[in-house]
Amino acid sequence: MCGIVGILGKNEVAPQLVEALRRLEYRGYDSAGIATVNGSALDRRRATGKLVNLSDLLVHEPLAGKAGIGHTRWATHGAATVANAHPHRAGGVAVVHNGIIENFRELREELEAAGVVFESQTDTETVAHLTARHLASGMTPKDAAFATVDRLEGAFALAFLFEHEPDLMIAARKGSPLAIGHGDGEMFIGSDAIALAPMTDRITYLEEGDRAVVTRAGAEIHDAAGRRANRAMTQIQIDATRIEKSGYRHFMAKEIAEQPAVLADALAHYVRDGKLHLPDVDFTGVDRLTLVACGTAHYACHVAKYWFEQIARLPVDIDIASEFRYRDPVLSKDSWALFVSQSGETADTLAALRHAQDQVARVVAVVNVTTSSIARESDLALPILAGVEVGVASTKAFSCQLLVLYLLALKAAQDRGIDVSAQIADLGMLPGLMNQALGMGKAIAKVAEELAEAQDILFLGRGAMFPMALEGALKLKEISYIHAEAYASGELKHGPIALIDAHVPVIVFAPHDALFDKTISNMQEVMARHGKVLLISDSEGVAEAGQGCWKTLTLPTIAPQLAPILYAIPAQLLAYHTAVAKGTDVDQPRNLAKSVTVE
Ligand code: G6P
Repeated sequence: MCGIVGILGKNEVAPQLVEALRRLEYRGYDSAGIATVNGSALDRRRATGKLVNLSDLLVHEPLAGKAGIGHTRWATHGAATVANAHPHRAGGVAVVHNGIIENFRELREELEAAGVVFESQTDTETVAHLTARHLASGMTPKDAAFATVDRLEGAFALAFLFEHEPDLMIAARKGSPLAIGHGDGEMFIGSDAIALAPMTDRITYLEEGDRAVVTRAGAEIHDAAGRRANRAMTQIQIDATRIEKSGYRHFMAKEIAEQPAVLADALAHYVRDGKLHLPDVDFTGVDRLTLVACGTAHYACHVAKYWFEQIARLPVDIDIASEFRYRDPVLSKDSWALFVSQSGETADTLAALRHAQDQVARVVAVVNVTTSSIARESDLALPILAGVEVGVASTKAFSCQLLVLYLLALKAAQDRGIDVSAQIADLGMLPGLMNQALGMGKAIAKVAEELAEAQDILFLGRGAMFPMALEGALKLKEISYIHAEAYASGELKHGPIALIDAHVPVIVFAPHDALFDKTISNMQEVMARHGKVLLISDSEGVAEAGQGCWKTLTLPTIAPQLAPILYAIPAQLLAYHTAVAKGTDVDQPRNLAKSVTVE
């Protein structure tokens, strides 16, 4: 995984590289590094941990030059050490890489047999050595890089920088995304357009297998077969100021608080004059859906399964993207496949999309980043309109994914002759109710102080509250590092109930709906075993079942089908405040990255 950047600039590039890497830090923060060419000299600086360590190093050991490449790492091969940090260098070439070179062992053995000594455990170093050997044999930088790329298997986005070549970068992509940015007398390479946003909004996306020879005059692009290729340049709408915390202590807090506003915007986009506005979506003739995603997006799909089946009576299969294609699922031409992804770059989800492409009637993407690979490779991409999400733990993207999936379920119902006017009318209340739910912040912060002491926490829910319990447990694990598990309430007695004692908090999501009594019976089973129950319900639910609970939280009453979107807020706030109480790194939790571009 990782983020890469390259600049052929007019000014000193080190500060620009660091700023671009700051925008790519969501892809990993195990180490960071840059290399520049100053006149003819190629040099590099690398530091472990977050980007700030690299900036500090650059204060003491600056790096001059108007051409450079940079990298922020999420470790795959080799621990987070300086030796494993990119750029990797051999002879007169430096390389940064996002992805995994699957045949690196074979290449490394071949190089070692020829006398090459490696200084890292990374797969990337083989790329630098192969290129250096080609250069030493007399090849031009372009031919050397291209010949190296020909030998690579796996997924990669690469940028090469060469000694004595202050006006040249080579870029290559297979599997991992890569954008070329066009300036005036300057050129850029970036893992995404956001990284390049302060410098340019004119972007060319490389396609699968493309290589590019980049000079200050422009980019010469070749396809996988070596032919010159024309790739369109697009103008990207990117507000360069949007990755600010705006007074909040953490991006996550800001993004949780933004939910009523972004949901209102998404609603205004998709519901007009009381009618669903999804012009390219017609479920007529579709007899099955497959929903595929990873992480939080997968839990959004899990909630959506309940909606599509209950409201539209349309059968739905859900899959974890990393399992999907290896399971070789049975797909049909009467079905659609939906891929849900905030970033639109998750490698497993993208691979699953490609696997489904020729086997279903239509591939639909539900994405936040509309310029992403998943958006571009689908037949139809529906934006969730959450705005940029920086916190690694997904919050507003989750509720916006839920909203778009809910609207799709309503559209499916409509196309199947089912009246959904009442559900559409209920939607208008949602932003206001979300706002009210945010008012629970203080009460949740108090509960969280005690939750922060726990070793293990269980989450329970029934129906669509089961995936909400899963999401609540995931959020908590991700940012507070407390072990948390979620179960369908009815499943508790089949094993997990053995975990219950007076020290294990059990968080129960139970709106006062048709399943309430069943969930509460399961909650009573926990209390009978001295479990510490936190009940999250509405006023009716808390009045009926709150007695004897360790704590209760009261949410506004909401139409039952919309409850998962509302209950996302306490799930997120519980994780957030518990993490704050524990003093963990909320926005950049250990070992994680926001966009996982390796399988
Ligand atoms: C990573 C993130 C999760 C996210 C998942 C899927 O694991 O840490 O927050 O839910 O990837 O990401 P996507 O961009 O495809 O929604």
